Amino acid sequence: MQSIMIKLIKSTFFHEAKTKKELTKFILKADKLSIGSECRKFEKRFALYQGKKHCVFVNSGSSANLALIQVLLNTGRLKKGDHVGFSALTWSTNVMPLIQLGLIPVPVDIELDTLNVSSRTFGALMKKRPVKAIFLTNLLGFCDDIDVIARLCKKNNIILIEDNCESLGTVYKGKKLGNYGVASTFSFYVGHHMSTVEGGAVVTDDDELATMLHLVRAHGWDRNLTEDKQLFLRIKHNVNSTFYSRYTFYDLGYNLRTTEIQGFLGNIQLPYLPRIVRLRQRNFRYLAKTLYSRTDLFYPIRFDHIDTVSNFAVPVVCRSRKIRDQLVEACDGKVEIRPIVGGDMTKQPFFHKYFAHARHPQPKNATLAHEQGLYFGNNPELTKKEMQTIIKIFTS
Ligand SMILES: Cc1ncc(COP(=O)(O)O)c(C=O)c1O
Repeated sequence: MQSIMIKLIKSTFFHEAKTKKELTKFILKADKLSIGSECRKFEKRFALYQGKKHCVFVNSGSSANLALIQVLLNTGRLKKGDHVGFSALTWSTNVMPLIQLGLIPVPVDIELDTLNVSSRTFGALMKKRPVKAIFLTNLLGFCDDIDVIARLCKKNNIILIEDNCESLGTVYKGKKLGNYGVASTFSFYVGHHMSTVEGGAVVTDDDELATMLHLVRAHGWDRNLTEDKQLFLRIKHNVNSTFYSRYTFYDLGYNLRTTEIQGFLGNIQLPYLPRIVRLRQRNFRYLAKTLYSRTDLFYPIRFDHIDTVSNFAVPVVCRSRKIRDQLVEACDGKVEIRPIVGGDMTKQPFFHKYFAHARHPQPKNATLAHEQGLYFGNNPELTKKEMQTIIKIFTS
């Protein structure tokens, strides 16, 4: 009998049938489906969940990253040509906005035992490059000593921003990841922790950044600002007619808006998030106990410094390329696997195209994870039998 593939993404939503039913009813009843009250309600609730003052809901995690970098430029906190550090092991659209918006991306290596940038790897880079900011990726629900990195940044006047698209719900030293920098980004893509099919957000406590985020999200206009903020801008720019104020564009922006469908989905799924995180954490710990103890096959991954590990995929870094290649073969048709996130970004064609001649530091550990690593999905719906199958394939 042919076995069924253990997929990376098992469902579109948590409580899928119920969510789809409610969504159908909502669409049939709704007068308006462009951005409105459902999105605003979700923003309030997500900000509350994350413990932040502001949340700006956008149409993807990639858009959240783009918006955040644009906002730092619009507000003058970064200038074109500034060096910005990024975790070498990350996703393409973490780095791409830096290139697209005229900044110089500087890869920061990760630690092999946490897969994340540490104060050691970041500290070493700081000595070599005049970085103005670091866009840290909290990779796959893990972190290293991000509290120390935050202190280093503060001391050296470096802007810390977090790409938390892979670690929604992770708690480190009693604090959720995404709360260590001045702003952080999230993804609600279907395969991630909580799904609005496509979606993302930027959260911050910083009023200036939040105001600019509203502008950047929609065309550079002021429509989604509070009345006092609109008045301030209109006086500053001499816009004294209502007619023109509707089509006045104050700074560089995009259209990254969400729809009420995403807002509605966010409001349905968010209350499930604590349970989703609990289930994934339970699966992860079960799998990690056996997999990570096989130090003959895999490099050990350390996570006992993290209170809650919230990931949507489980990585392994094999001791050799041969072991990894054998695993890729063994998983074929049985377990859906991928390289660890996007792998080492400095190995990607887009990075070569723009930085082939740049003498950036070589991220040795990220390269090793790229060449000897892989991950498989961790879903709330993963069954014990499936986890046992995975363990058997990975350890025999
Ligand atoms: C670290 C990181 N940042 C950003 C993104 C982009 O998120 P989205 O797929 O919602 O655009 C991803 C996607 O997986 C990611 O892993």
